[in-house]
Amino acid sequence: MLSIKSLSVSFGGLKALSNVNLELQANEVVGLIGPNGAGKTTLFNALSGLADVESGTLEINGKAHKWPKPYELIDLGVARTLQGVGLFPELTVLENVMIGDNKSAKSGLISSALGFSGSDETKLKERAMTALERVYASGIADKRADSLPYPVTKRVAIARALVSEPKILLLDEPAGGLGAQDIEWMNSLIHNLATQCSVILVEHHMDVVMSVCDRLYVLNFGEVIASGDVETVRRNEAVVAAYLGVNN
Ligand SMILES: Nc1ncnc2c1ncn2[C@@H]1O[C@H](COP(=O)(O)OP(=O)(O)OP(=O)(O)O)[C@@H](O)[C@H]1O
Ligand SMILES: [Mg+2]
Repeated sequence: MLSIKSLSVSFGGLKALSNVNLELQANEVVGLIGPNGAGKTTLFNALSGLADVESGTLEINGKAHKWPKPYELIDLGVARTLQGVGLFPELTVLENVMIGDNKSAKSGLISSALGFSGSDETKLKERAMTALERVYASGIADKRADSLPYPVTKRVAIARALVSEPKILLLDEPAGGLGAQDIEWMNSLIHNLATQCSVILVEHHMDVVMSVCDRLYVLNFGEVIASGDVETVRRNEAVVAAYLGVNN
């Protein structure tokens, strides 16, 4: 589905990513883990046109692509969530999810979503409701985003990424800030999502990572220090030293 080769990104003198290689197959869940500041979000930013790529190549479905601009992502079948949540507080859940389809934003559909009429608005609404159903949140479509408990906002943020029906979903710490019960729930949601798309999961909760990921890449100071199946990586000494510690 996706192949990144020799990706490097710098911020001034800081090498945030150095020669990173990453492959993602169809319906695979690949975990991207590593300490704070390792470069995980930067990799998502590079993939979504929010970080300047210094060097590196990208293939999607076996075809070489330039590093995409944010507005090109949907056409490439890629969608992401933001670390944190990033919903518009005064909009409804449904409006927040509709905004995830930024192709519609480009064509003016979002303005229609936010008050004007339009024939395609109905279709976008339907897709937004389907996305909400996938995260079990269709019952709260009309609630304002700022009225929701934090764990529910995390689900709505995922629905916003799903509305464009991506083939590749980039999840940046979906379980971040959640309690044990909601983490369990997120776990099964990600399992579920992976039946319909490939996922790159950035996550610090190792129980989620170990349970949902097929393979892992471990970043440390911008470099991949280990990759492979979950058990191999878990036992890798460099990974234990840099990130996992002795208790994992
Ligand atoms: N826009 C930016 N300008 C300057 N430095 C940046 C920028 N974005 C990230 N960095 C730096 O790049 C490095 C990688 O940051 P990144 O956010 O990718 O880490 P991360 O692995 O996602 O960490 P965390 O687990 O804390 O989210 C860090 O040293 C960070 O301070
Ligand atoms: Mg991050």
